[in-house]
Amino acid sequence: MIKLSPSMLSADFARLAEHIAEIEEAGAHYLHLDVMDGSFVPNLSFGMPVIAALRPHSKLVFDTHLMIRRPERHIEAFANAGADIINLHIEACLDPLEAIRKIKSLGKKAGLTIKPATPAEALFDYLEELDLVLVMSVEPGFSGQSFMPHCLPKVERLAEFVQRRGLTTEIEIDGGISLDNVRRVTSAGANVIVAGSAVFDAKSVGHAVRCFLLAFETSVAKE
Ligand code: DX5
Ligand code: ZN
Repeated sequence: MIKLSPSMLSADFARLAEHIAEIEEAGAHYLHLDVMDGSFVPNLSFGMPVIAALRPHSKLVFDTHLMIRRPERHIEAFANAGADIINLHIEACLDPLEAIRKIKSLGKKAGLTIKPATPAEALFDYLEELDLVLVMSVEPGFSGQSFMPHCLPKVERLAEFVQRRGLTTEIEIDGGISLDNVRRVTSAGANVIVAGSAVFDAKSVGHAVRCFLLAFETSVAKE
C-alpha cells in the first residue's frame, strides 16, 4: 500500500488544525512534521509544543522528521508530545542503533533519514531494526525545492534490499514531489510519499490529496 504524508511545513500556520482536518478527511495516511533547529539545517520551524497542541485534533499518524543535531537527546520529549514515527537523520546521530532502540522502547516507530549526499548503503546495517527509512530528494531545510532525480537509484537499492530480506520497512521519500513526478518515485519502490507544497499550495488541499491517492492507485495497477 502506498501512503501519503503531507508535510505541514507548507500549511498555513494560522490555520493548522483546519488544514490538518482537511487532509485527514480527504484520506491522507500520515502527517509529516518537519522539526528544524537552525543548526543541522539553516531553517527553524517548530517543536514539541506545536506537535502536542495538534495531537488531540487528529488521528493521523504523526510522522516526525527531526532535522536537529543530536536528536537522541529529545526522543522522549517527541514521544510524549504525540509523535508516532520518529525519524532521525543518520548524519546527526552519534549512535543510530541506540537511538532506534530507545524509540522502540517507548512504543514508537523508528526511522532513519539520509540527506541527498549520503549513500543508501549507510542504512543497510540498520534496516532490520527500522520501521521506516526516509530518503531526502532535496537538501533538508525548506519546502518548495526541485526534486533531485539522482536520489531515485537509492530508493531502488533500498527497496531491493528490503524485498530480498523479506523486511516490512517502509521506504519514504521527501522533497520536490508533485503529481508530475510521483509515479517515478513509486515505481522506484517508495511507499510513503511526502508532499508539502504540492498539497498545501493547491487551491483545494482536499482535492490535491485525492489526486495523489488516485495516482497511487494507478501506479499500483501498473506494477
Ligand atoms: C524539507 C522538508 C520537507 C518539505 C517538503 O526539509 O523535510 O518535508 O517540507 O516540501 P515539498 O514537498 O514542497 O518539497
Ligand atoms: Zn520532511
